[in-house]
Amino acid sequence: SNSKKILILAGDGIGPEVMGEVKRTLGWFEKRRGSGFETEDGLVGGCSFDKHGVPLTDETMQKAIDADAVLLGAVGGPKWDNLPFKDKPERGLLRLRKDMELFANLRPALVFDALAEASSLKTELVKGLDIMIVRELTGGVYFGSPRGIETLPNGERRGINTQVYTTSEIQRVARVAFELARKRGNKLCSVEKANVMESGVLWREEVQKLGDTEYKDVQLSHMYADNCAMQLVRQPKQFDVIVTDNLFGDLLSDCAAMLTGSLGMLPSASLGAADKGGKRKALYEPVHGSAPDIAGQGKANPLACLLSLSMMLRYSFDQGEDADLLEKAANNVVAKGFRTGDIMAPGCTLVGTKEMGDEILKELDRLAA
Ligand code: NAD
Ligand code: IPM
Ligand code: MN
Repeated sequence: SNSKKILILAGDGIGPEVMGEVKRTLGWFEKRRGSGFETEDGLVGGCSFDKHGVPLTDETMQKAIDADAVLLGAVGGPKWDNLPFKDKPERGLLRLRKDMELFANLRPALVFDALAEASSLKTELVKGLDIMIVRELTGGVYFGSPRGIETLPNGERRGINTQVYTTSEIQRVARVAFELARKRGNKLCSVEKANVMESGVLWREEVQKLGDTEYKDVQLSHMYADNCAMQLVRQPKQFDVIVTDNLFGDLLSDCAAMLTGSLGMLPSASLGAADKGGKRKALYEPVHGSAPDIAGQGKANPLACLLSLSMMLRYSFDQGEDADLLEKAANNVVAKGFRTGDIMAPGCTLVGTKEMGDEILKELDRLAA
């Protein structure tokens, strides 16, 4: 069949709450736009540990590999914080990324006009902001070896992680970033710390080589990661596409998230290599976590997860028009003043997760009429 196989891994905390709205919206696209989706639910994170004793089973891992796309909510929470490292909910997510070989993590930071005031920065600094951070996702210090905690002969303990990148790992993620830059503002900023790290020196050299050969048309610059953190809050609109390693990308994308007003607004796509038919393995998830402080209260903002669905429609299924429609609906609902707590402003209407989902569906109906 030509129906699209989607594995849904709602996860922990607010994950299932925001994913509930995604499922309703998927239903809307099936009914109103004739999209053929074949969805299946699975467990990842603490909920999987509770049921199976592991944060991700081999069976679910295989289903993720076989799916056309994976939608993920969030994992983790205080209940599982003291588990041994291998059992932690976060390991489930990291295994998904690693075993699906999702090396390119696209994290857009896009400011909705109506939310420019919700940013902690001055409105004029963020109005119209549209940055894309491309974070390397399967290498670097997250996965490098040696790693671990060891006890030295003198009784001291030592914690070890290793930052390591090969030329091909750098090249493949840089290519994704160069290609994206071409479709956007044609500017790429590569971020590392070549002043203190050999892996950063290699990173800079390899990205520059691609810039000098295959991507001469793209305006390439380099920046140290600490300076980039500063520049993101000083003058964020100087950036178009940023490409960086796994750990710097984690930090810089949370930082960029706050420019948009809330972590609750930011989607992401994690992509693997293209196969012969041009299809990429892909996982879509909000940038935010399981938000234990508000979990179970029905007040999480579902827009980051809904915008991740939009990225899925665009990148995995070539449904660009449907993706536009969903993004337009999200924009309009926020512009009409419907706000979850995290983006609430004076004079706006405070809504919960479900009501926000209702408004999105109403707006989709209106736009499609
Ligand atoms: P978090 O993103 O869960 O929460 C940070 C803050 O943002 C909290 O105050 C939270 O209430 C708020 N927030 C986040 N998403 C929101 C939303 N949709 N609507 C409204 N408010 C929202 O980060 P944290 O507190 O550092 O981590 C909590 C747990 O989540 C940890 O176990 C962590 O490992 C995990 N985590 C998971 C992922 C993931 O699954 N991809 C990402 C980050 C953190
Ligand atoms: C993210 C999260 C994850 C990361 C954790 C939960 C493993 O912070 O997706 O940004 O560090 O990559
Ligand atoms: Mn993070």
